[in-house]
Amino acid sequence: MSPLPGVAVRCVDVQQTFSVDGEDVHALSGIQLAVDARERIAVFGPSGSGKSTLLALLAGLRRPSSGSVWIGDTEVSSLSERQLLRLRSGDVGIVVQNPSRTVLPYGTVEDNILFAQRAVRRERQGALPKPSDLLAELGLAALIRQRAAALSGGEQQRVAVAVALACAPRLLLADEPTSQLDGHSRDLIVELLVRAGRVVGATQVVVTHDPVVADACDRRVTLSEGRVVDGGRRERWAQG
Ligand SMILES: Nc1ncnc2c1ncn2[C@@H]1O[C@H](COP(=O)(O)OP(=O)(O)O)[C@@H](O)[C@H]1O
Ligand SMILES: [Mg+2]
Repeated sequence: MSPLPGVAVRCVDVQQTFSVDGEDVHALSGIQLAVDARERIAVFGPSGSGKSTLLALLAGLRRPSSGSVWIGDTEVSSLSERQLLRLRSGDVGIVVQNPSRTVLPYGTVEDNILFAQRAVRRERQGALPKPSDLLAELGLAALIRQRAAALSGGEQQRVAVAVALACAPRLLLADEPTSQLDGHSRDLIVELLVRAGRVVGATQVVVTHDPVVADACDRRVTLSEGRVVDGGRRERWAQG
């Protein structure tokens, strides 16, 4: 596998407001964020600070109330539903807290990778890694024939990372990927994300509460009450 160039990500004055019982909840306010291609950032912050909402916007799972989200030259909120589906099934990989929401229990690890790859449009199928190659490069070759249901929680989460990388995404998003794991399994996920950066080349945005995970990233961005309070590289915006 040869690594892809990754992709730069930018949020420009992003607001996300939800209406809850007629009251406005400002989940994100004036978010300015720039992530370089192939950079790995940690998004830190207390519960309710807007971390998952930010990931949902980067994944194209929702459109911001205002402002713009860019993945490379593409403004995500300008995309049609069909284009968004394409973005989610190829260009962006997502890892969530609980691997049982990603991994199909009755399939083998290889089945899981192949199933994820079926979502990619035909022109790109040829560019996808073979499951055996991907798993070998990620250090997970021994799991290929295992049934996912038979794996431990930590192994399942490593498989979930491999599944998220199955379509050679240029952007990998992870929402508290280690919060349900013990220290050892956490360390293996950290190692896997670092390796994924090298092998696949994806830019990474990792939401985490864990300082060990954050320290393995190139930069830490801290959210508080829906605002970036540290690390968003505001100097760039000041320069205009
Ligand atoms: N779909 C939604 N509807 C209403 N409020 C929401 C929704 N999603 C998130 N929120 C609110 O937005 C804020 C940020 O939530 P979230 O992004 O989940 O934070 P975090 O991931 O940092 O814990 C919270 O106040 C939460 O209650
Ligand atoms: Mg969250």
